[in-house]
Amino acid sequence: MRTSRRCLLIWIKEFVAVGLEAEDPCVAGDWEKQKALSAVNNILSVLNRYSKLTGIVVSEKRCGNVRSIPALSSSLNLSLGRIKHSFVLTDPHLPDMPIVYASDCFLRLTGYLRHEVLGRNCRFLNGQGTCPEILEEINHCICSGRSCTVHMINYRKDGSSFCNLLHISPVRNATGKITYHVWVHLDEGSKMDFSGLSPEIWQLGAVGAVKVAVRSLSASCSLSRLPQ
Ligand SMILES: *[C@@H]1O[C@H](CO)[C@@H](O)[C@H](O)[C@H]1NC(C)=O
Ligand SMILES: *[C@@H]1O[C@H](CO)[C@@H](O)[C@H](O)[C@H]1NC(C)=O
Repeated sequence: MRTSRRCLLIWIKEFVAVGLEAEDPCVAGDWEKQKALSAVNNILSVLNRYSKLTGIVVSEKRCGNVRSIPALSSSLNLSLGRIKHSFVLTDPHLPDMPIVYASDCFLRLTGYLRHEVLGRNCRFLNGQGTCPEILEEINHCICSGRSCTVHMINYRKDGSSFCNLLHISPVRNATGKITYHVWVHLDEGSKMDFSGLSPEIWQLGAVGAVKVAVRSLSASCSLSRLPQ
C-alpha cells in the first residue's frame, strides 16, 4: 500500500537521521549504509505482504496521528451533532481516509477525545483480536461503493475490547458523488434499548439521518453559490 509505504519511509528517515546525529557526527560507512538498506528492504517486504492481506486498513499506527484535516462546515457539524448514535464519517478523497467527524456517542464508546480521533484512519480501533478477513471484507465493501455490516473485535483507548456490530455505508452528496463513508458502531455487549427495533434497523436509522444531513447541506451549498 503506497500510503503506508510512504509513512514507513518517512519514519525510517527520521529514525536513521536521529540515530546518526545521536551516535557520531561522522558520515555512515559503507557497512552501516548496507545494513540500513537491508533493514529497510526487510521491513518493506513484510509490510507489503501484510498490506496485501489487509489493504487500506493495514495496521500502521505511525501514519494515523499527525494529520490535519479541513474542518466540516459548522452547519453540517451541527446537524450531525443531533444524531444520537455512535458513528464516524471518513473522507475517501483525503489521503488514508481520515475521520472527519466523530459523534459524542462514539467518543463515549471508545474512550477517546475528539481531537484524538479526527484526522486518523479507523484502523486505530483494531488490535490483535481483529480478524484480517473482516478487514478485507471492509476494504472490498468500501472500494466497491457498497454498504456492509460486519461483526468484529475492536479496542477502546484503555485497551479493553468490545464486539462491534459495524455498519459502513457510502454517503453521497446532492450530485450523487460519494463524499463520505459513515461507520456506525454498536457495542454488542451493551444493554442498549433500541426502542423495540433490531440493532441492524437502529443502525440504518443513523445512516439515513447522516445521508439526509449531508445531502440537504450540499444542496443548500450549491444553491448559495448561484450568481446573485
Ligand atoms: C462540532 O460539534 C461538536 C459538538 O457536537 C463540538 O464539540 C465541536 O467543537 C464542533 N466542531 C466544529 C468544527 O464546529
Ligand atoms: C459532491 O462531491 C464531489 C466529490 O467530493 C464534489 O466534487 C462535488 O463538488 C460535490 N457537489 C456538491 C454539490 O457538494
